[in-house]
Formats: sequence, C-alpha cells, structure tokens
Amino acid sequence: MANADNIVWHPGAVTAEHRRRLLGQRGCVVWLTGLSGSGKSTLAAALEQRLVADGRAAYVLDGDNIRHGLNADLGFSPDQRDENIRRIGEVAALFADAGLIAITAFISPYRAARDRARRAAKDAPFLEVFVRAPLDVCEQRDPKGLYAKARAGALREFTGVDAPYEPPVEPALTVDTAARSVADCVDAIVAMLAERGVLAGPGDA
Ligand code: ADX
Repeated sequence: MANADNIVWHPGAVTAEHRRRLLGQRGCVVWLTGLSGSGKSTLAAALEQRLVADGRAAYVLDGDNIRHGLNADLGFSPDQRDENIRRIGEVAALFADAGLIAITAFISPYRAARDRARRAAKDAPFLEVFVRAPLDVCEQRDPKGLYAKARAGALREFTGVDAPYEPPVEPALTVDTAARSVADCVDAIVAMLAERGVLAGPGDA
C-alpha cells in the first residue's frame, strides 16, 4: 500500500503470552457470517453475555451499530461492503491482539473479504461461524422490514434478493438458527472455543 511506504511497524514490549496470562484466555476473532435476519446479532449478544458471565473479556462488533459510526460513510455496493469488512477485520484483529474475544456480526457476503479478515488476524485464532437459516425463514422473520422493501424494489442490492451471499467453504462451525434455540447455538460456539484452546491461559491449556 503506497501510504505505508515510509511508515515503520513498532513491535510492542508486551507479548500475546503476557496478555494471555493476564486474562486467562487467548485473544481471538469469532466471525459470524450469514444473511440479514439469520440471527447473527441475537447470537452475538447472547454469546457475549454468556462469556462475560463466565468471567471472559468479550466484545461484539455489530454491522448495524458500526454502520452508525466508524463505517457511517459506507453503503452496500460490493466495493463498499469490502471496505466495511476490511475495516472491521482490522478492528477485530486489534481487539484480538489486546487479548479479547472479538465477536463480529456482519453479513460479510464475500468469501474473499472474509479471507482477508482472517489474514488480518495473523496469529490469533479466527473462527468463522456460519449462521445458517434458509432465505425464506430470514424473509419471514424480516425484523427490520427490509426484505419486504427489497422485494418491492424500494431497496436495491439487498443480500439474498438482488445481491449475492457466498457461504463459507470450511467454517469452524455452522449453527442452524431455524432448527436450534439461541441457547443451543451459544453452547455450540462456547464448546468450539474451549476445544480450540482459547478459554485457557498459557499454563492451563
Ligand atoms: S455487509 O454486507 O457489509 O457485511 P452489514 O452486516 O454491515 O453488511 O450490514 C447489514 C445490515 O444493514 C442488515 O442487517 C440490514 O439491516 C442493513 N441493510 C441495509 N441495506 C442493506 C442491503 N442492501 N443489503 C443488506 N443489508 C442491508
């Protein structure tokens, strides 16, 4: 990137190992992806609540919220969605580097953009979770009335209607929100985190 030509990266004196010992967990990114209405935000909030109740440091980055602030300048064209996910990938990577369990809830419809977010996380585990629900179920839920608007032609480039969604090829986990309760899906994600060793300090793994 041309703007980084004359900029040098300063490594910090605090290592990932120090932070892991301090927090008793390994910083990581739990990347939820799925259609609008698939349950990402609900699941992210419930997962965060569960982890914090268990004494874990976790934080949710949610599409609708981030688009009010950091990414308020972005729309929904393919390029702008890529930029949305690029920025969130970088922010999530910083949170993970700080030792947190960063939970992201973005449609993130493009595989290449998700892969880029994975690369941004570097050594921190990046756990892609496919929040799967059939389009017709998402459309019936339509919590914000946006599918109805998109079908009526009042909203363009809506994911699943006239914009694509590319499902993950090899997600760390798939949760079916049409078939399972929120609590069940949270259980499955927490079990996956335990299995991947992120809920342990350096000596307890
Ligand atoms: S992403 O595609 O760039 O990852 P993001 O998760 O940030 O999307 O935002 C999705 C949310 O924005 C949806 O849940 C919905 O509420 C709203 N939204 C508004 N317009 C669109 C659109 N054209 N396509 C998808 N979601 C939209």
